[in-house]
Amino acid sequence: MTSTIAKPVKALILYDSQSVGGSTDRLIDSIGKKLAEGGAYVEKARCKINADYSFVDEFDLVLLGAPIYYLLVASQLSGALMQSNLKKVLKNKKVALFVICGSPEPMAQFLYLPQLKMHIENPVILAEKVFSPDQTGDPKTIAEFVDNITAAYGKAS
Ligand SMILES: Cc1cc2nc3c(=O)[nH]c(=O)nc-3n(C[C@H](O)[C@H](O)[C@H](O)COP(=O)(O)O)c2cc1C
Repeated sequence: MTSTIAKPVKALILYDSQSVGGSTDRLIDSIGKKLAEGGAYVEKARCKINADYSFVDEFDLVLLGAPIYYLLVASQLSGALMQSNLKKVLKNKKVALFVICGSPEPMAQFLYLPQLKMHIENPVILAEKVFSPDQTGDPKTIAEFVDNITAAYGKAS
């Protein structure tokens, strides 16, 4: 009898926040836990503008997100997309995008998510989500986001 072990999906959560222990950290931990419960191998990394992002290449799936401060995606993530090799390593990757902000969702869809999308070439966007600060602690909203990613990943593979 031959048994096969399905290879776990390697997921990376790449994020930024000006705060430590704030809403973003809470959200990242909950998303990571939920992905891991579904069988994924999960790592998280806080962005630095001029870091070397070659390591991203080894991941099957990248979740990219940050809060909005003064109308802009947090600067270490947006800066990394503009100045480092992050844009290059994300080319053709399966990604999920999220922002955390106080603005109403339609405004965030229009103003903030494009700030992430515009820097990625030919991405396979599995899911995108605007989280309000309140939702970063809401298990149902987080589970829905992770379920959407997992379902889309299955279809895209
Ligand atoms: C200094 C500051 C500026 C902010 N500017 C915006 C903004 O322009 N648009 C918006 O929708 N939310 C804005 N927010 C709300 C944050 O995006 C939101 O509170 C987020 O949860 C903060 O994440 P953090 O707890 O990880 O720092 C701002 C918050 C702060 C503290």
